[in-house]
Amino acid sequence: MEPFFMALILLAIYLICALLSPFLTSERRCPRPKLPLPPGTLGWPYVGETFQLYSQDPNIFFASKVKRYGPIFKTHILGCPCVMVSSPEAAKFVLVTKSHLFKPTFPASKERMLGKQAIFFHQGPYHSKLRKLVLRAFMPEAVRSKVSDVESLAIDCLKSMEGRSIDNTFLELKTYSFNVALLSIFGKDEMTYREDLKRCYYILEKGYNSMPINLAGTLFHKSMRARRELGQILAKILATRRQRKFQHDQHHDLLSSFMGDKESLSDEQIADNIIGVIFAARDTTASVLTWIIKYLAENPTVLQAVTEEQEAVIKSKGESGKQGMLTWEDTKNMPLTSRVIQETLRVASILSFTFREAVEDVEYGGHLIPKGWKVLPLFRNIHHNPEIFPEPEKFDPSRFEIAQKPNTFLAFGNGTHSCPGNELAKLEILALLHHLTTKYRWSLMGPLDGIQYGPFALPQNGLPIRLFRR
Ligand code: HEM
Ligand SMILES: *[C@@H]1O[C@H](CO)[C@@H](O)[C@H](O)[C@H]1NC(C)=O
Repeated sequence: MEPFFMALILLAIYLICALLSPFLTSERRCPRPKLPLPPGTLGWPYVGETFQLYSQDPNIFFASKVKRYGPIFKTHILGCPCVMVSSPEAAKFVLVTKSHLFKPTFPASKERMLGKQAIFFHQGPYHSKLRKLVLRAFMPEAVRSKVSDVESLAIDCLKSMEGRSIDNTFLELKTYSFNVALLSIFGKDEMTYREDLKRCYYILEKGYNSMPINLAGTLFHKSMRARRELGQILAKILATRRQRKFQHDQHHDLLSSFMGDKESLSDEQIADNIIGVIFAARDTTASVLTWIIKYLAENPTVLQAVTEEQEAVIKSKGESGKQGMLTWEDTKNMPLTSRVIQETLRVASILSFTFREAVEDVEYGGHLIPKGWKVLPLFRNIHHNPEIFPEPEKFDPSRFEIAQKPNTFLAFGNGTHSCPGNELAKLEILALLHHLTTKYRWSLMGPLDGIQYGPFALPQNGLPIRLFRR
């Protein structure tokens, strides 16, 4: 009778399981307890902790959270539950090793202004294809061919600032970084369109942080109109290039990279990405330059050392009989000036953090990051962690004399979406510093301690200065 009994029990178990199975999801069937959420508070419903974030320096908000809850904590901002991560390991997890589990995410209004098909918003095959084309235009070999054109723009920019009171240094430098961006996108051919592009782009960006209400007269409406006009100018440029049918390969600019691909992009995809690159390239580089000008004025010994390094570059060119314009090799032989740039990127951390969204439930360090939650790697907190960078508020370029540990210095991000423009940005900054330090001196005119966020960190009022010849 025993085998019969066994069979009966098995049958009973089978029936119970079959009846209950609709209620047992595949996850619950495996006996893993549900992981806890990261520590932290979610604040009020909907508004969450948005007020706390915006009512004070956001970095103080983040830093106090990190102190209280550790390197990974939850909060609630603008209606979205978020997990903030501020250790190098967690940043690596989100940006590099598990980047496929965290997609980029932006407010819908920003997508509409830059264009839905711009590189930042994508993941997967379309993103890889775009990234390949963008990297091709900004790899060292391509940037190398731009050195003297960038240098000419730097010289013009400084000349235009000479001998007068500059109310807003950032605005002047934005013209420079805009011109460099156009040069790297179009080469020298399309300079005829420079002023039109500039006019439209400046209207477009005014709407960037406005309320996304598309009614006649609103900033948002005007900027959407400017966005359409930009599209038309770009279509004209594309049409002219196609007519001329010149050898794309001879040109190292972004537009020929986009147009020269076998499975080429549509006009709309090209337009969205050109506007996207201008957006990524301009305010970032201009605000880093603004911070460098401030830190150099406040640290005369560093300024003196940079000036000596740059004068040595001029001298070595004189000795070798190759006077005149900078070469790519010259720019690769400016170690101290390069450390000043790195230290500025660290202290100022102009991109305080970036945004991702979990595409499924993800486990990290014994915590659950639920699907759909935002995930923010906090670059600034990593850069200002005293265990990684002792006396983090101190501007000290010599800390970069030794190599940094992986994922502790993330000024250009890391992984799938890291900055493809970093070589160009560095060249642009070096070229301007070369002429600035060897020919000019400046004094700071405004309040010295304020910081503005718009959205990149910036010295208050864009740093008013007076610039004069040495
Ligand atoms: C000093 C100036 C710059 C800084 C600090 C900077 C920083 C960054 C960072 C941190 C990211 C990654 C954001 C993320 O992971 O969410 C990024 C992405 C990007 N940057 Fe830059 N950037 C600078 C200049 C430039 C320039 C000059 C260009 C253009 C030539 C550029 C083009 C881009 C593009 C296209 C992306 C998106 C890449 C992708 O999604 O795959 N950036 N930048
Ligand atoms: C990016 O991540 C990789 C892998 O962890 C690491 O080797 C590299 O040093 C990181 N880059 C930076 C800038 O930290």
